[in-house]
Amino acid sequence: MSKPNILVARAVFPEVIAHLQQHFEVHANQADETWSKAQLMDKLRGMDGAFTTGGDRIDAEVLAACPTLKICANMAVGYNNFDIDAMTAAGVLATNAPDVLTETTADFGFALLMATARRITESEHYLRAGKWTKWSFDMFAGSDIHGSTLGVLGMGRIGQGIAKRGAYGFGMKVIYHNRSRLDAALEAECKASYVSKDELLRTADHVVLVLPYSPASHHTIGAAELALMKPTATLVNIARGGIVDDAALAAALRDRRIAAAGLDVFEGEPQVHPDLLTVPNVVLTPHIASATVPTRMAMAMLAADNLIGFFKEKRPLTPLNPAVLATK
Ligand code: DGY
Repeated sequence: MSKPNILVARAVFPEVIAHLQQHFEVHANQADETWSKAQLMDKLRGMDGAFTTGGDRIDAEVLAACPTLKICANMAVGYNNFDIDAMTAAGVLATNAPDVLTETTADFGFALLMATARRITESEHYLRAGKWTKWSFDMFAGSDIHGSTLGVLGMGRIGQGIAKRGAYGFGMKVIYHNRSRLDAALEAECKASYVSKDELLRTADHVVLVLPYSPASHHTIGAAELALMKPTATLVNIARGGIVDDAALAAALRDRRIAAAGLDVFEGEPQVHPDLLTVPNVVLTPHIASATVPTRMAMAMLAADNLIGFFKEKRPLTPLNPAVLATK
């Protein structure tokens, strides 16, 4: 029997390609070309499965053009690049890569929070530019992490990891808001108290966004929400671009309506709103929250194992629309 054809849409570790090659005819993109939607559709024609990353949009148009496609395995926990309803309607299984990145991403969220509150990149740029000529009492004075109030918006696995780092590591008071309240045992484990979104924005010293992107969460933080925050507060977004109105945030940072922000994700990335590039009080990183070698390897291997599990036994590890399996 011929092996299923799999497109790997972006470059990945050679070990992952080798793992896939044991089971599939692999069409890899190790040159890491970035394809337009038309090019992606072209490459997907005749494929049985796809290994995708967060930038590869799979929607009704793509699915209609690629009727042989049976599964798309995302090397990401977020899957807003998938139109799940369209995939389910087309009988195409979607999988993501949860859990393996939780602690690494929570570490990064905390690193970004600390860099933001303690003005680490801003001060490094100053030093590198040769501007440091003397010590002064208020030079790059920021805000404290320990003992302050941490507000976590989106209390899934990564949000819980950030809450625990804050509560146990830094003695922070942790408040959170989520679509649904955690059960009492989990709240106690995270030492976190449930509050409304407005109360969180009004009272937190540091707000961290960890909620998934969907049309419902588009611009969860805009001018009105920023206006609720303390002028001394910081905002960190490690969730998805589009959850924050980047233009409104740049204006709030410029006018010092909040103290600082740390952003790993952007609306329309890899483009970054030009106004964000001109304000000093923001730490900008290129969507790297899950980027450690072991974690990226684990994410890629999980995506590969989802493809293998699906084609071997119809048992993918982390399906998003398992109803599709019943029709296979
Ligand atoms: C994810 O897994 O969703 C991260 O944002 C990496 O893309």
